[in-house]
Amino acid sequence: MTHRPVLLDEVVVAMAPRDGEVHVDGTYGGGGYARALLAAADCKVLGIDRDPDAIERARVAAGAEAQLVPLHGAFGDMRSLVEGAGFERVDAITLDLGVSSFQLDEAERGFSFMRDGPLDMRMGLAGPSAADVVNQMDERDLATIFFRLGEEKQSRRIARAIVKRRLKAPFTTTLDLADLIEDVLGGRRGAKTHPATRSFQAIRMFVNDELGELARALEASEHLLDEGGRLVIVTFHSLEDRMVKLFMRERAGLMGGGSRHMPKKDEGPAPSFALASKKATEPSEAELAVNPRARSSRLRVAVRTSAAPMGGVVSTGVELPDLGSLEAAS
Ligand SMILES: C[S@@+](CC[C@H](N)C(=O)[O-])C[C@H]1O[C@@H](n2cnc3c(N)ncnc32)[C@H](O)[C@@H]1O
Repeated sequence: MTHRPVLLDEVVVAMAPRDGEVHVDGTYGGGGYARALLAAADCKVLGIDRDPDAIERARVAAGAEAQLVPLHGAFGDMRSLVEGAGFERVDAITLDLGVSSFQLDEAERGFSFMRDGPLDMRMGLAGPSAADVVNQMDERDLATIFFRLGEEKQSRRIARAIVKRRLKAPFTTTLDLADLIEDVLGGRRGAKTHPATRSFQAIRMFVNDELGELARALEASEHLLDEGGRLVIVTFHSLEDRMVKLFMRERAGLMGGGSRHMPKKDEGPAPSFALASKKATEPSEAELAVNPRARSSRLRVAVRTSAAPMGGVVSTGVELPDLGSLEAAS
């Protein structure tokens, strides 16, 4: 399957590229967004991806397109990546979160429960893998990951079964784990999605610290975007959409709270962003008909004001076990 970029037209409209501008595509993937931005204006696109395969694609594309600058690394480190490439400020930043079809289709990467491959799931190919998580984490921590990141109601049962099974033999392949989860949840029973969908998503998000990465990218965007700069984010998970929504609302000064009957206290710092729209944009029926991956996507857009960065750490809103406590065995 080729990678069909989600909400592409909407993203290009929100990024509003103009000649001479510098745009950051923090999730280069198959280059769908980057190509569309470069076609829309004579702008520069800094294409970041932590996946070496994606960056190799970007390098090939950059051979024919001098305005594309591939940058290998995590978008949570966007500030140092962009500054390292010689840019202090940029005009627009986009993120299209999650995995690409390239990653899902490549059995060797271990993202898919439909294809047998090593239980890996590391986008950047470094650090603890999915196998390290399922073979080393204690039962409670495993259940927490499945419940919080996968919204899996049977999280405890799955965690218990994993721990029991790994005493006999560690998990090494995607199908090995997918089959066990299917056994625990009692088969597919005509369900639309595979029973392992939620657990695989949870492990992938944990292994790649996806919420932490998003928090760091949001923080960085406030420093990198010039006045009038656009922040354009496509999410696929309710926790991510919530983080983006809260960040944008807070930085737009819309989280006020307090009582209207109380005297006004300190007004606080000036908003560093303005919301482009209060509601998230969802994919059209036409897009859903041709691109099932768009199903849970949400686009949110905010525009940088001239105010100083409000600063402060962005919370993921979720407490998770420590990934760093695992030993990378593979
Ligand atoms: C959904 S795809 C992006 C597709 C892209 N918009 C396109 O049109 O082809 C997501 C990409 O983001 C990358 N990615 C995910 N998290 C990342 C992170 N924290 N830092 C850098 N790249 C990341 C993945 O490796 C993947 O290639």
